[in-house]
Formats: sequence, C-alpha cells, structure tokens
Amino acid sequence: MWWRDAVVYQIYPRSFQDSDGDGIGDLRGIAQRLDHLVYLGVDAFWLSPIYPSPLADFGYDVSDYTNVDPVFGSLEDLDTLVRAAHERGLRILLDLVPSHTSIEHPWFREHLDWYIWSPVDGPPNNWRSAFGGSAWSRDERSGRWYLHTFYPEQPDLDWRNPEVVAAMQDVVRFWLGRGVDGFRVDALTAIVKDAELRDDLPATGMFALPSTGEFGELEHIYSSNRPEAVEALAALREAAGDALLIGEVYLGTAEYARWLEHLDLVFAFELLFAPWKAEALRAAIAPAAELGRVAWVLSNHDFDRLATRLGEANVRAAAELLLTLPGAAFIYQGDEIGLPNGPGSDPQFDRHGRDRLRHPMQWDASRTGGFTTGEPWLQPIDAEKRNVEAQRADPGSLLNHYRRLIQSRRELGSHFRLLDSPPGTLCYERNGHVVTIEAG
Ligand code: NOJ
Repeated sequence: MWWRDAVVYQIYPRSFQDSDGDGIGDLRGIAQRLDHLVYLGVDAFWLSPIYPSPLADFGYDVSDYTNVDPVFGSLEDLDTLVRAAHERGLRILLDLVPSHTSIEHPWFREHLDWYIWSPVDGPPNNWRSAFGGSAWSRDERSGRWYLHTFYPEQPDLDWRNPEVVAAMQDVVRFWLGRGVDGFRVDALTAIVKDAELRDDLPATGMFALPSTGEFGELEHIYSSNRPEAVEALAALREAAGDALLIGEVYLGTAEYARWLEHLDLVFAFELLFAPWKAEALRAAIAPAAELGRVAWVLSNHDFDRLATRLGEANVRAAAELLLTLPGAAFIYQGDEIGLPNGPGSDPQFDRHGRDRLRHPMQWDASRTGGFTTGEPWLQPIDAEKRNVEAQRADPGSLLNHYRRLIQSRRELGSHFRLLDSPPGTLCYERNGHVVTIEAG
C-alpha cells in the first residue's frame, strides 16, 4: 500500500500559486510548482476543495461536486494536473465533502428529502453548530427548519436516504475516473445523526480535542459519532475501491478503531493539539502508534500554524517528530519554510477567523512572494525574509531540513518502540535508529 508511510503535502489551492494574475491560486499554478514537491520528496499532495462554491466556508460549501470552480480553472486543468503529477511519481488526493453541501447546491432545491428537516416549526433539539449558535436554521423558501453542523450556508445531507448515498458514490467514481488517487474525507463524525433527533447531553468530562464556545457545552452523542456511520463509510469504500480514504474524524484516538473499519487512515488529532512537552507528546503518540493506520499531522488550514503554535525555536524538532513517527505524515503548505500565522484580512473572509492560517506561499523575496503577478487575495506575511528560493540555496535552512528528513525516513522501516528517556525528552527507536526529541 503506497500510503502506509507516505508523506502527503496539503495544498490550499487559493494560496499556493496563481497563474493568471487574478491574485487567487489555481490549478495551473499548482502544476507550475510541482517541482517544489519533487524537491521536498513527498509522495502525494492533497488539494483542499477545488469545486464550485459560494465560499461561505471557502470551498467546504460545495455547490457542484463534479466540477472545478472557474477561479481555479477547468476540468481539463485538473486532468492536466493529474497527468503532470503522475509523470513525476506524485499521487493526488482531493477533498471529499460528503456530510453537507452548499445551500446553493441545486440539490437543496430539487431534492428536499436529501437533507435533514425539523419535524416541528423550529429547532427540534438542542444541537449546536460547530461554528456557534443553533444547528438549525429556517429555510425562507419552504418555511421549514434544516440542520447544519457548520455554517447555515452548509445544510447537512441525510445519509439515511439511499439516493444521497448513491449520489455521493457517483461523485467518488467521477473523480477516480479522472485519475485521482484518493480522498481526504471531510467532517466524517457528523455524517450520520440520531434518527430520533434526541437532545445531546450536557458535557461532563474533558474533550479529547478542543471544542469551543457553546458547542463545547454539549456531549455530542446524538448529533455526531453515531455507530450507524459505519454504513455510510462502507458505501464510500464500495465506490472508492482501493483508492486511499483518509478521514477527518475529529475525535480522540480511543474512538478511531471503528472508523478504520472502512477508512485506510485517520488523522491523529491528539498529537496536533498536544502541548510541546515530552510527556504530552508521548501520551498522544503511544495509543495512536499502537493503533497504526493514523496519519500524523501538526497543522492544517483550520488551526494555528506550526511555527506559531510551537514557536520558531521548535519547528525543526517538530519536523523531526512528524517525519520519523511510523506511518503516514501530512505537511501543511508553508510549514516547510516556517510560515507563521499572518494578520489575516480586515474585513475577514472567514467568519471563523481562519484567514491568518491561509496566507499565500512565499516563493521568492518579491512583493507578492512570487505567488501572483496581480494583487494577492491575502497578502504574503514576510516574503522578503522567508521564502522558498532563499531556503533552497541555504543547506542549513528549514526547507532543506524537511528534505533531508523525508529522504532519510526511507531507512526507518516499520519498527517503532518508545524508549524511556530523561524528563523533557521523547525518545524512540526505529529500525535501529534512535530518535530523541527535546520538548519542554
Ligand atoms: C473541516 C474543514 O477542514 C474545515 O475547513 C471546514 O470548515 C469544516 N470541516 C466544514 O466542512
């Protein structure tokens, strides 16, 4: 299985490379920069959503699952990118968003019964949206109340309806037919909900992962993480065949086993949130490594960037950790040059405050960092002092550190054993190599 130890690079398409001067990254731009991925030595890349979208959630509100948003290019551009990637030995993953559509998806008008509606005139329960407020909103046209786990512009699909299952299977087959190698699957915990729409319970203990505001006041035992989700996953697997399915299952490691019945990998989120302290890292790593089939990840487009969360002093050690743990590892674009959070924009694009994690790649020291010949949709942060060109030329740079780590991880084999070590250090053995990470 190619993905077992794969290094996968996450591309945020709006912010990777613009090819046409409109200030927004696009597929042709990505194709122009594939050599960066080859230089790094990664095995694959994942594109955050490229589908038509009104951008309430920057692509995670899809209005057409089998097309490319014109801002990113065309289906032909995608075909060209797939070919160019494969020619270089790179695999390509798309982002599948099966749990909700955009409110502007024609399905929301043409197939009302593909969505989840309140049986009463108002919210039928206490479910909260992950972005705050009630998870129920009134649809002005029908006058009925629909469920949305995320923004009101993202109505949840009803996976208990076989037509929804079949439609999403068709989406999977469509992209596999165009040559993509698999999918990162979005927001899976919420794919199926309690059939009786029972109230979630007040939160009792600590969550394994951060859960903010009102959302964190409830234990989401009916609105999410349902045992019935296994059927939805089986359907996705049936359509995907042996293509890679990596799940965004936003739960603690203890919950992963049953999700892995049909998924190949799940992100090991406990590590992403572990403080940079050896004991905390060890506690996050041990059960996930035991489980196997996790993808290690230290940052993505939703949470603070690595350099900001851990501090610049720790970015090298973080790269060592990420790339020497056993199994697949995901790198978020820009982490390899130490990009920190940026200022975002004012007014903000993302209502949930995530612009600051999505600033453009900095390829060179020019005003737009080589990202665009036009006006970037978000300004580069510090291209004059931090950019790919300069770091390529410097053997001691963070970029070349990532590159060397990726090259040498081939020698690590599959063996992994945590070792006892002095306080403030995390130590493990891989195939005769001992890795020591100082943390804390
Ligand atoms: C997880 C995605 O990574 C995030 O960006 C998005 O807002 C939610 N899922 C909803 O799709």
